[in-house]
Amino acid sequence: MPGNFIVANWKSYKTTDEAKNWFEKFSSFNLSTDKEIIICPSFTLLPEAKSLIENFKLQLKLGAQDISPFEEGPYTGEISGRQLENLASFVIVGHWERRTYFNEDDGLLNKKIEMARKFNITPIFCIQTIDTPIPEEVEIVAYEETNNIGRGVASDPKDIQMVSKAVKEKGIKFVLYGGSVNPEDVKNITSIPTIDGILVGSESLDAGEFLKIIANV
Ligand code: PGA
Repeated sequence: MPGNFIVANWKSYKTTDEAKNWFEKFSSFNLSTDKEIIICPSFTLLPEAKSLIENFKLQLKLGAQDISPFEEGPYTGEISGRQLENLASFVIVGHWERRTYFNEDDGLLNKKIEMARKFNITPIFCIQTIDTPIPEEVEIVAYEETNNIGRGVASDPKDIQMVSKAVKEKGIKFVLYGGSVNPEDVKNITSIPTIDGILVGSESLDAGEFLKIIANV
């Protein structure tokens, strides 16, 4: 697994047609990169995204934005690891929005990590402070500065450096930063020695802006 991750979190945006347009636009740039670029669309878009990536031969991997703590069964609305394993190589777990709007707690997040592992889906575990508990064996942690999510301005690189260093000292292999990453300040973030990549929300929704971020990393 290369150390330079660029993760696009599309959140609850895009219809199938909008996603198709994004992949078409992205493919027109003929990107060649050694970075690990992971697109995390809504569940509804995963099958279409998978075939578009194959058809356009894009250097992109897919991630899910959530995973059920259950393997299968009568759990209305849940999407399980079994259902995801052929569609997604990664999954975002513990995002601030899920902890805040859906009351996801540490116990539940541990179960989601267990399920991801069981189905060979690599978790990208989000933390919001240095003290957020990190489940065992997690290799990729994304530090999200909550005051900076969706605000248009990324955190102070000094704070990102301090937190990412502390997380690395806990034995985490890869530390990403998330929170208003944009083409202008991405380099200030990715040049921090303890940062292995970025989690991009709003600025990943437009293929052109996302490509600018990739170029500026
Ligand atoms: P944002 O989202 O880039 O829109 O701030 C970041 C995130 O989801 O952590």
